Amino acid sequence: MILPIYLYGSQVLRTAAELSPLDDREGLKKFIDDMVETMHHADGCGLAAPQVGVSRRILVVDGNDLVDRYPELKGFHREMINPQFTFESEESSSYEEGCLSIPNVDASISRPARIRVRYVNTDFEEVEEDFEGFAARMIQHEMDHLDGVLFVDRATPIRKKMIAGKLVNIAKGNVHPRYRVKSDK
Ligand code: NI
Repeated sequence: MILPIYLYGSQVLRTAAELSPLDDREGLKKFIDDMVETMHHADGCGLAAPQVGVSRRILVVDGNDLVDRYPELKGFHREMINPQFTFESEESSSYEEGCLSIPNVDASISRPARIRVRYVNTDFEEVEEDFEGFAARMIQHEMDHLDGVLFVDRATPIRKKMIAGKLVNIAKGNVHPRYRVKSDK
C-alpha cells in the first residue's frame, strides 16, 4: 500500500521517534513492505517511518536506482528496525542529498565517511554492519529522520540562505510532486 509522504513543516518530521516494539512481527513486516513500496513509487532511495507519519525507529534504503552514479550500490537494500550507530569515523565526506519530504531541494552535506550500525532486520535478527561511501550516506540521512533532524539543518550557512524561500513554500504546501504528500499542520 502506498502511503502519503509528510512534507517539510510537519511536526512528525521534527519529533524524535520511539523504539519500535518487536512483538507484532506480521504487522511490522507489512508496514515495512508499505514503506518500501512508497519509496519506490516516489523514486526515492530511502525512507524513514516518520516520513509516513509513524514516529518509530524504522528505515528502509535501496541503492539500485543509483548504480549509474554509484556502481557499488548494485543490490544494496536494507530494512532496519531500531538502528543505532556503534561507530562513526572522524574522517568525513560530502555528497549531494535530497529528501522526499523536501521536494526539489538539494544540498551538499558533510558527514562521517564510515559508520557501523547495529539494528534488527526483518528476520528479527540483531545485526551489526559496516557501511561506507554512498550507502553510509543514505543510512545516516535516514537515521537523522529518526531524531527529527533534516538534511537541510546540516547545510552550510550560505546554502541555507539560498534554499530558505523554497522551504517556506514547501511548508505552506506550495509544492506538487507526482507522489502523494500531506502535512500534519
Ligand atoms: Ni529524507
